[in-house]
Amino acid sequence: MTRETFPHEGALAESLARRLADAITAQPSIVLGLPTGRTPLAMYAELVRLTQAEQIDWSRVRTFNLDEFVGLGDSEPGSYRAFMHERLFKHVNIHREHIGFLDGRATDLEAECARYESAIAAADGLDLVVLGIGANGHIGFNEPADTLAARTHRVILDDATRAGNALWFRGDVRAVPREALTMGMATILSARRVTLMATGEAKAEAVCAMLEGGITTRLPASFLQLHPDVQVLLDEPAGECLPIRR
Ligand code: PGA
Repeated sequence: MTRETFPHEGALAESLARRLADAITAQPSIVLGLPTGRTPLAMYAELVRLTQAEQIDWSRVRTFNLDEFVGLGDSEPGSYRAFMHERLFKHVNIHREHIGFLDGRATDLEAECARYESAIAAADGLDLVVLGIGANGHIGFNEPADTLAARTHRVILDDATRAGNALWFRGDVRAVPREALTMGMATILSARRVTLMATGEAKAEAVCAMLEGGITTRLPASFLQLHPDVQVLLDEPAGECLPIRR
């Protein structure tokens, strides 16, 4: 894994947005795995700015988001689908049918997970997946556990994860769904390239363990050590427990 530390989160957001814009220009039919959450907000804003300033063409780009809450669909404000629409999709010329999303309101959630895996496979897999990381070391919604699921599946969310998502539900943690659908570890690790972003001191411990610790299901992000092409982008607080870059 390579790591880069930026002086503040704005610089990280700018750098990652630049890389994504360049990746789209270099490979117009790129297949992206995309995250939601607080961390990527500034990056999406900058990516939209670059897209408009440089007329970046999203017409052949395909995306698959990492996860979605069970019970929520695109019209619900707390859904990740609504998040992505507001922050990115409505600002770029991506085709609606090129947007891959898990449907948290599907009647058969197991079939929905299988459909998602097939859709990713039919797109010839993910070229680049962008990830955040939870303070507990989760990626996507793959929470610390005795065992991890390989492929897209249904999960019960940790209390800490629900608390971290309360801001999308007007600060009311009780309104955060208890379950979600998420890409599995193998889905993520099958991506040809991975970029993980982390900001703020609350992430420092998980980042440190991911980079320096053993590979353990108790810290799902540590499995990224098995991937040959992972870039880790940090602001200074998130990188603070690390030794000088080697
Ligand atoms: P956050 O979430 O960006 O809201 O901190 C990241 C994650 O849980 O993956």
